[in-house]
Amino acid sequence: MSKIVNQDVESIVAALRKEAGALEGKTLLISGGSGFLGSHFLAVMAKLNQTVFKKPCKVITLDNYITGTRQNPLGDITDPHFTYLKGDICTPLKVKGPIDYIIHMAGIASPVYYIKYPLETIHTATIGTENLLKLAREKKSKKFLFFSSSEIYGDPAPEFVPTPETYRGNVSSVGPRACYDESKRLGETLCMVYHSLYKVPVVIVRPFNVYGPGMKPHDRRVIPQFLSCAFAGKVLPIHGSGLQTRSYCYTTDALVGFFKTILTKRSGEVYNIGSHEGETNLVDLASAMEKILGRKLKIAKIPYPAEYPADEPSRRCPDLTKARTELNYVPKVDLETGLKRMIDWYKGQYVR
Ligand SMILES: NC(=O)c1ccc[n+]([C@@H]2O[C@H](COP(=O)([O-])OP(=O)(O)OC[C@H]3O[C@@H](n4cnc5c(N)ncnc54)[C@H](O)[C@@H]3O)[C@@H](O)[C@H]2O)c1
Repeated sequence: MSKIVNQDVESIVAALRKEAGALEGKTLLISGGSGFLGSHFLAVMAKLNQTVFKKPCKVITLDNYITGTRQNPLGDITDPHFTYLKGDICTPLKVKGPIDYIIHMAGIASPVYYIKYPLETIHTATIGTENLLKLAREKKSKKFLFFSSSEIYGDPAPEFVPTPETYRGNVSSVGPRACYDESKRLGETLCMVYHSLYKVPVVIVRPFNVYGPGMKPHDRRVIPQFLSCAFAGKVLPIHGSGLQTRSYCYTTDALVGFFKTILTKRSGEVYNIGSHEGETNLVDLASAMEKILGRKLKIAKIPYPAEYPADEPSRRCPDLTKARTELNYVPKVDLETGLKRMIDWYKGQYVR
C-alpha cells in the first residue's frame, strides 16, 4: 500500500474510531467490493481489524468482476478475516452464517460502462438490490446500505442546486442515462418498500462524484480520464460546453460519510454524501490539474462520442445539511489538496 493510501486510511480510521466499534466481531457483506469504493472499504476494514478491534470483523465481498478486479487497486490488502466470493447478485443468493451488515455497492458506475452494459446496470440496481434485501430480511441484518447516486436527481433547475435529499429529480426515463438513473431510483424504492413492509433497516446513500487513489486509467470517469490523457501526452477531451459543473469529493471524506451512514442508528433515511464546496466546471478542473502538474495541458472540445452518454446534468452539487445535522458529516479536503494526493498516487502507480 502506498504512503498516500496508508495516510488516507489512517485518517479515516481516526475519524471513525468512536463509532466503528459497532462493527467489532460482526460480519459484513459488501456487494461490488472489488470496485473503486469497495477497495477503500476493504483497506479501512483491514486497518480497523489490525489496529482497533480486539475481535475482528469478518468481511465477505461478492463481485462478478464485470468492471472490478480481484486485485485491489490500492495494493496488497490481506486480512485472514476477508472472504472473496465471485458471483452475480442478480442470481438468488445463499450465504452461510450470520450477516450483520450489508453494504450494497455493486453497480456499474462509470457512464461509458453503463452505456456498454445497460441491461446489467438495470438488473444489478433492481433484481440485485431485491436479492440482497431478501438476504438482509432472512439474516435480520442490523443495517442495509444501498449505494444510489446523485444521478437520480437528473438535471436539477438552478434553484435546486445545491440539491437537498427532498428534491424529486428531473430525469428522463428514455434518455441515454436512463438505464443508470432510473434503475437506481427503482432500487431506492425497493429499499423503502422492504423497510416499510418487512422492517429491513435500510439507509440509502447518494454519493456525489467521489475521486481518489484506486481509480484506474481506463475508468473513464473524468478525473482518471484527464490524468491518463495528461500523462500519455494526449488531448484532454471535453464533451459539451465544458461549463458543466461537479463537486468532487476526495475518498477520505466520502468514506467517513459512508461509514457514518452505516453506523447511524437511524433507518429509512436517505443521505447525500459528497463535498459542497469547490463546485468546478470541466475547463477549471483541467486548469487545476495544470497548476499541480506545472505544465500546460492540451484541452479540446470534442462532440460526445457514441460510447459516452450525452444528456449530462449542467450542475451537480449536494446540499449536505441533513448529513451534517444528523450524522455530523463535514467534508474537509478541498479540491486542490485532494487532486494533489490523487495525482501523486497515480504517478506512483501508473507513470513510468
Ligand atoms: N464513485 C462514485 O463517485 C459514485 C457516485 C455515485 C454512485 N456511486 C455508486 O456507488 C457504488 C460503488 O461505486 P464505485 O465507484 O466503486 O463503482 P465501480 O464500478 O468501481 O465498482 C462497482 C463494482 O460492482 C461490481 N458489480 C457490478 N455489477 C455486479 C453484479 N451484478 N454482481 C456483483 N458485482 C457487480 C463491479 O464488478 C465492480 O467491482 C456503485 O453502485 C455506484 O453506482 C458511486
